[in-house]
Amino acid sequence: MTRTPLISGNWKMHHNHFEAIQTVQKLHYLVDKETTESVDVSIHPPFTDLRSIQTLIDADDLPFALGAQHCHWEDKGAFTGEVSPVFLAKLDVKYVIVGHSERRELFGETDEMVAAKVSAIQKHGMTPIVCVGETLDEREAGDTEDKVLGQIDTAVAGRAKAQIASLVIAYEPIWAIGTGKTATSDDAQTVCHSIRERIRHLTDAATADAVRIQYGGSVKAANIAELMAQPDIDGALVGGASLDPDEFAKIIAYQG
Ligand code: 13P
Repeated sequence: MTRTPLISGNWKMHHNHFEAIQTVQKLHYLVDKETTESVDVSIHPPFTDLRSIQTLIDADDLPFALGAQHCHWEDKGAFTGEVSPVFLAKLDVKYVIVGHSERRELFGETDEMVAAKVSAIQKHGMTPIVCVGETLDEREAGDTEDKVLGQIDTAVAGRAKAQIASLVIAYEPIWAIGTGKTATSDDAQTVCHSIRERIRHLTDAATADAVRIQYGGSVKAANIAELMAQPDIDGALVGGASLDPDEFAKIIAYQG
């Protein structure tokens, strides 16, 4: 099974819609067409930028998929400040990040909410990027696998194999996010392999082989190639380094 790599830029709360347009235009100028024939690229700007970037991608037929950073699990209702997955689908959003550690830690997103969002995102034809990862304390206590595989279990419970096969999982050790510390490629591979093995155990070999697993946490041009060389790492969820089109273009072109 060959899995198409997926490199995703999570801009978090950075770049207003003017800056977003400039960044995407510059990125397009820097990334050559051949590269995007073999690598999928998604860009996850803040909600207020989505319409501008959708228009740009559509008008210039850019080889980037539009992504969102989160959404609610209900289609509509009295949920002040929340964003419906229906609205995202209407904007041609293809990938939605779910359960990012910042949402879990700062905004109280639970495994159960993550599971409800995964269902809603798939119901509307989009692909969830489900984030999992351990804190430094959990890692030092030897609890990395318990934490990560527990998050995987609740995210996939009760789903059909085809739905699981189309998920993207992002392994993001929390201690590596925005800190400049990256898991070594061997460590990242070990956890990504355990994730795939867990999915194999819960489903079957074909389903586990189809799931794309990203690594996230201080990914940059200098470390992407080594991470991508690992057999169970199929992409990257890039934060800070995706804000700079020069750096992000180099990450996308990791194959040289
Ligand atoms: P950094 O690449 O800035 O460490 O962020 C990783 C991340 O959280 C992407 O979702």
